[in-house]
Amino acid sequence: MRKRATLLVVLAGLAVGVAYIASMISRGFSAREPPSRLEVAIAGAMRSLAMPAGARSRPNPFKPTAEALAQARAHFADHCALCHANNGSGETEIGRNLYPKAPDMRLPATQNKTDGELFYIIRNGIRFTGMPAWGSGHPSEDRESWKLVHFIRRLPDLTPEEIAEMETLNPRSPHEHAEGAGPRGTPVGDAPDRGASRHGHRGEGPGPRPHGR
Ligand code: HEC
Repeated sequence: MRKRATLLVVLAGLAVGVAYIASMISRGFSAREPPSRLEVAIAGAMRSLAMPAGARSRPNPFKPTAEALAQARAHFADHCALCHANNGSGETEIGRNLYPKAPDMRLPATQNKTDGELFYIIRNGIRFTGMPAWGSGHPSEDRESWKLVHFIRRLPDLTPEEIAEMETLNPRSPHEHAEGAGPRGTPVGDAPDRGASRHGHRGEGPGPRPHGR
């Protein structure tokens, strides 16, 4: 009886594998297509299995104070918004063209994850996706990552003022540099103030930026 059950599980596994490969072949490997439901389900299941026991239930050791949230907001604008957008929607040039896309982190799929899960993902990244790992295990980096978890919880309720402040902290592309101002404090062209003040702001951002990227 047991043998039969094992055989059934193996056969079911094989069937899923074959269906996956068949869908991959028929759909091609463009990053533009959204992943199929099967692919999302398999990737989600693999990710759950791969998360070490205990990681999910780790409590956030920091309080979501106004200061911690402000730091995390600045950090997110500088390091994460490129893909995730300031409001966490993932609606950026890069975020929406990655495979899988950067998710809308305001939705339950992200918000229902535990603090421990979000921390683990930020610290370790997600293999085979655009999501980088942001920690090498240094305590100051872990501290930043726990604060980012608090900020992710705030995403559904961000105010327009908070988003406007983040816009001043977003990294500028080389293209914008060329159009706007020269290096820090040396305005060029006819938009001197915008470029100069943005640079100044970033440099004076709150606290250290240990991720250094
Ligand atoms: C280069 C693009 C990129 C950058 C930069 C980036 N991410 Fe991501 N992130 C992704 C992608 C793509 C995913 C979705 C991966 C997937 O679906 O498996 C993701 C997923 C996540 C998730 C998991 C959400 C969920 O519901 O599963 C969290 C949390 C996250 N990112 C936080 C961050 C934080 C915090 C930063 C900045 C420190 C950051 N990301 C920077 C691309 C990026």
